[in-house]
Amino acid sequence: MEEERIVSGETQREEEKWAELSLRPQRLSQYIGQQTVKDNLTVFIEAAKMREECLDHVLLYGPPGLGKTTLAMIISNEMNVNLRTTAGPAIERPGDLAAILTALEPGDVLFIDEIHRLNRAVEEVLYPAMEDFCLDIVIGKGPSARSVRLDLPPFTLVGATTRAGMLSAPLRDRFGVVSRLEFYTQEDLTEIVSRTADVMEVNIDKKASQEIARRSRGTPRIANRLLRRVRDFAQVRGNGEVTFQLASEALVLLQVDKEGLDHIDHKLLIGLIEKFRGGPVGLDTIAATIGEESHTIEDVYEPYLLQIGFLQRTPRGRMVTNRVYNHFNLEVPDY
Ligand SMILES: Nc1ncnc2c1ncn2[C@@H]1O[C@H](COP(=O)(O)OP(=O)(O)OP(=O)(O)O)[C@@H](O)[C@H]1O
Ligand SMILES: [Mg+2]
Repeated sequence: MEEERIVSGETQREEEKWAELSLRPQRLSQYIGQQTVKDNLTVFIEAAKMREECLDHVLLYGPPGLGKTTLAMIISNEMNVNLRTTAGPAIERPGDLAAILTALEPGDVLFIDEIHRLNRAVEEVLYPAMEDFCLDIVIGKGPSARSVRLDLPPFTLVGATTRAGMLSAPLRDRFGVVSRLEFYTQEDLTEIVSRTADVMEVNIDKKASQEIARRSRGTPRIANRLLRRVRDFAQVRGNGEVTFQLASEALVLLQVDKEGLDHIDHKLLIGLIEKFRGGPVGLDTIAATIGEESHTIEDVYEPYLLQIGFLQRTPRGRMVTNRVYNHFNLEVPDY
């Protein structure tokens, strides 16, 4: 049986999707943290509204669960326009994109999630659409083929990706606003946990919020997920109130350690130490050893391990740092 992935799982269950929808802040003022991104967007949105134009295209990038989709929704709310949502892998042919673009109303936000997964042919349709709000369509085949230019309503493309590096340069260059989302601070996450508890009508004390925040890997999605699980414990084992004591116990049972690492992180780090003397070792080798996809490791697990200084990337591969030995109470080897 596959173990449930409390912390770093990529797959979302229905329960979570539903919960996220109701937990999402609707306005920039409710969006906690990411101050620079928020400050910039506030100005650009204000300016666009004053000029009665649509907002320039926005690219949001950063690790999963930091609030890219949420921001896309907020942008459309703040601009008072419709939001159309799609994803890179869902747009297979240029015609699919053309259909989406021609159905937009003036000013709409088109959100393309996982935009790095658009294929080449589709991307090429996007260039003139982003730049000049038009569509070049080729009608017919062979010598009788001709190109027709179609005007589109002005729109804002909001693209989201966990991998800015995988975006082609011409696509990246066509975004007027490029924002990188960072892992959240403890304070911001504590506020997010409190806010979520409010929305879910759960009583939680400050220390419990802080404890959940501390173990959430700088990620709101994980903070909310842990809070939901801790709430279950509070209901079954306590009187529904989330206290520090109860939160700590629940988190131990959920196998989330003090740094917010779960069994897969452990497998990865211990594997590196036991099988490769701490590295350096290539990503694909790590992936094969622990039975995960390399892109999952790169997108989901590694960014936080790099952020807290547990992993290092070197030209010869990944290496654990001394902090990992300390974390697991192991002696730091002297090779
Ligand atoms: N700044 C924030 N303030 C409050 N809640 C937030 C914030 N950012 C994200 N959240 C919450 O975290 C959850 C995950 O956010 P979201 O789905 O926007 O992440 P994402 O970056 O799109 O992730 P992915 O890369 O997996 O698509 C949402 O339920 C949202 O409520
Ligand atoms: Mg998203």
